[in-house]
Amino acid sequence: MYKIASLPGDGIGVEIVPEAIKALNAITERFGHKFEFTEALIGGAAYDAVGHPLPDETLALCQKSDAILLGAIGGPKWEELPVHLRPEVGALLPLRKELGLFANLRPCILFPGLEHASTIKEEVIKGVDILVLRELTGGLYFGEKSREKTADGGQKATDILSYSTYEIERIVRFAYDAARKRNNKLCSVDKANVIETSRLWREVVMDLAKDYPDVETTHMYVDNCAMQLIRNPVQFDVIVTENMFGDILTDEAAMLTGSIGMLASASIGGEVGLYEPSHGSAPDIAGQKKANPLATILSAALMLRYSFDLEEEASLIEKAVKTVLTEGYRTPDLVEPGKQVLDTVQMGDLVASKILSL
Ligand code: IPM
Ligand code: MG
Repeated sequence: MYKIASLPGDGIGVEIVPEAIKALNAITERFGHKFEFTEALIGGAAYDAVGHPLPDETLALCQKSDAILLGAIGGPKWEELPVHLRPEVGALLPLRKELGLFANLRPCILFPGLEHASTIKEEVIKGVDILVLRELTGGLYFGEKSREKTADGGQKATDILSYSTYEIERIVRFAYDAARKRNNKLCSVDKANVIETSRLWREVVMDLAKDYPDVETTHMYVDNCAMQLIRNPVQFDVIVTENMFGDILTDEAAMLTGSIGMLASASIGGEVGLYEPSHGSAPDIAGQKKANPLATILSAALMLRYSFDLEEEASLIEKAVKTVLTEGYRTPDLVEPGKQVLDTVQMGDLVASKILSL
């Protein structure tokens, strides 16, 4: 029996999480594993109900679960709240930190058939299969923040950026281990020509590289990486980088896969793993059944792989997604002429049926 905390959150979160649960239930039907889902409030929905975006009960539930399935949080309704009560800063970041989820895996894969869904030329993105490892509990996101008044009547704002050897080492080792299971290529992304934390980052990577002689290590400045990702993305196998660079580069890399609606993520490294799509709550399309549930369904596959060690089951979900796309079914974010457009629920149903029939 696997205990899963289900946190739909806000906006399209409440539409896509049930579709991932459908996929997991299909896995139960096929393999007999038992998944027990307990739903809890997070984000704006939690603020509206109990006055805080990360209620104690939600955190407690997460801590005693075997894995967490999260939809998305935030929206314009909560943007004017004091910073500590906003869904992002008040719920998502503390959840990552409290659970020790320092390793964020974002696989950017171009599924067959989606070559035309991207704004980038087909010949450039053909064959894209990149794993980005983003450090998730350090850096600017968690550094001390302050404001002060200046003599000229303005203000000065400060965010501290710091990384310790320990924090860098553990994520980079993680990335090396991941590279060993793939094509043995690791690209470490930093800004070592300017930033001190990046210089330490690079030193640590150069040191660790000696332990992984079988993996080809390269270093790239983040600005160059942003360019290389759209110039020649197939050069990358595994990318490892710090928190904020990883945030920015993975939104960019999502476009290599056709839509950010395809980008799954796993946040691990602590006692319990957190699985969520890399996209946000998309308030503009919420409640219209237009959301693409595939990133969340693929995140459920990552849960099976990384939290429960159920490789066959994880691969089956991925194969079901591939099959549905190859057969020409699309959600509105992926639409091209000649393809059959499904709504969120229809897409979830179809993937679940493939899990049972493939
Ligand atoms: C992500 C998101 C979050 C982040 C936001 C919602 C705080 O953009 O998971 O990439 O910046 O980490
Ligand atoms: Mg982001």
